[in-house]
Amino acid sequence: MDAVHKGADLGGVKRRVHIKTYGCQMNVYDTERMLDILRPLGFEPQAAADGADLVILNTCHIREKAAEKVYSDLGRIKAHHDAKAADGGQMIVAVAGCVAQAEGEEITRRQPMVDMVFGPQTYHRLPEMLAAAGQERGGPVLDTDFPVEDKFDHLPEERVAGGVSSFLTIQEGCDKFCTFCVVPYTRGAEQSRPVDAIVAEARRLVASGAREITLLGQNVNAYHGEDAAGREVGLGGLSRRLAEIDGLARIRYTTSHPRDMDDDLIAAHRDVPALMPYLHLPVQSGSDRILAAMNRKHTADEYRRLVDRLREARPDLALTSDFIVGFPGESDLDFADTLKLVSDIDYAGAFSFKYSARPGTPAASAPEHVPEAVKDERLAGLQQLLNAQQEAFNRRTIGTTVPVLFEKPGRQPGQLAGRSPYLQPVHVTAPGIAVGDIVECRIDRLQAHSLFATPVVSEDGGALPNETEAVA
Ligand code: 5AD
Ligand code: SF4
Repeated sequence: MDAVHKGADLGGVKRRVHIKTYGCQMNVYDTERMLDILRPLGFEPQAAADGADLVILNTCHIREKAAEKVYSDLGRIKAHHDAKAADGGQMIVAVAGCVAQAEGEEITRRQPMVDMVFGPQTYHRLPEMLAAAGQERGGPVLDTDFPVEDKFDHLPEERVAGGVSSFLTIQEGCDKFCTFCVVPYTRGAEQSRPVDAIVAEARRLVASGAREITLLGQNVNAYHGEDAAGREVGLGGLSRRLAEIDGLARIRYTTSHPRDMDDDLIAAHRDVPALMPYLHLPVQSGSDRILAAMNRKHTADEYRRLVDRLREARPDLALTSDFIVGFPGESDLDFADTLKLVSDIDYAGAFSFKYSARPGTPAASAPEHVPEAVKDERLAGLQQLLNAQQEAFNRRTIGTTVPVLFEKPGRQPGQLAGRSPYLQPVHVTAPGIAVGDIVECRIDRLQAHSLFATPVVSEDGGALPNETEAVA
């Protein structure tokens, strides 16, 4: 995913920065925070690399060929870099994020144009790194430590409005060590931000227009931050604290691990109306043998029971998941167990991937890799089932009335695009509704993955604003 950033009004010397963002929402958030750091240094964001004074590739390493994609993008950037140098200018090129963390010096060895390589934990040191890259020109700056101090302490407090729906990172890293995954190596050990820092950031986001906040973390429900009294607070407790903020209508979080779904968080889904009835809870496989080989720390039945408890607490909860097919050693029977689990759970949506070996992870050196053709076939079968479930889920909402939070103008003139509590995209054509409004809408029809709706009109002719009653 590429994120394009609009310019800001800056004083002083203007310099231009192009940031290309790959991968997950954590990276989108990190890119926003890098811009927060760069703006006071006079950097204005621009959408293209051409002519920029600073180019940052904020990379993702979660799946296959991530590094190769970065090297090929660097090849393209080199043309702009050399053109600028020929005009007597300088383009500083940085590789940030998880590929930077994983590849380290290999990046500057393969592409000597690169001035800076830094991991996800060290971008608060950007000003020092920039100064070193600009002045020394002696060699590349490499900063891929996992510093003990909290990087969040060093980030500017001023947030540029992230819109009606904003992200907020509350937790980073992961200690789970699923055997297919690079995150524990690239993002490091699990670390939770203190409660008060999160509440303060959420208040700032709401003051600048956010009505919905999605709490981010690689293993977000492992959250265990300290409050001002030094007590440990879990994600359920944090949700309750955030729900007290005036003007914050919706809270979401992603991505969760089944093992960390504790009683208090389940109870929060029952008790906290602002906590949206939507949960991304990756299971990866429905086979106990494969789940054990993946080191997922739960069985398929434990996952089923957990989902039962969640649905008891919040009957309309929309569940989504991630799946990997073709994990080393996965047999036809194992795959059949995955299809069975999907049928039992009935998902509202899902992401599914073919297993791809990530160098340095335990599964990469496992024997019995599954042939590509078998992976293709399994992926197609799984996706067919998941797509049918998603479509059925969306169809079930036709004729119901749900509160929609409007986030942006739609594609057609006069249209607005928003989200239902279940994160479904909803389009409405209705004058009098503005971005940021939450309006009760009746879902009329489904087209592709989008729902088209009509606002429910009150007796005096106005749209009925509402949030919690209709979904509770
Ligand atoms: N191969 C395939 N899919 C992977 N994922 C993570 N690592 C791999 C891998 N090596 C998927 C998992 C995870 C999602 C973010 O990416 O399903 O939940
Ligand atoms: Fe990776 Fe998620 Fe497993 Fe952590 S819990 S190792 S982030 S797949």
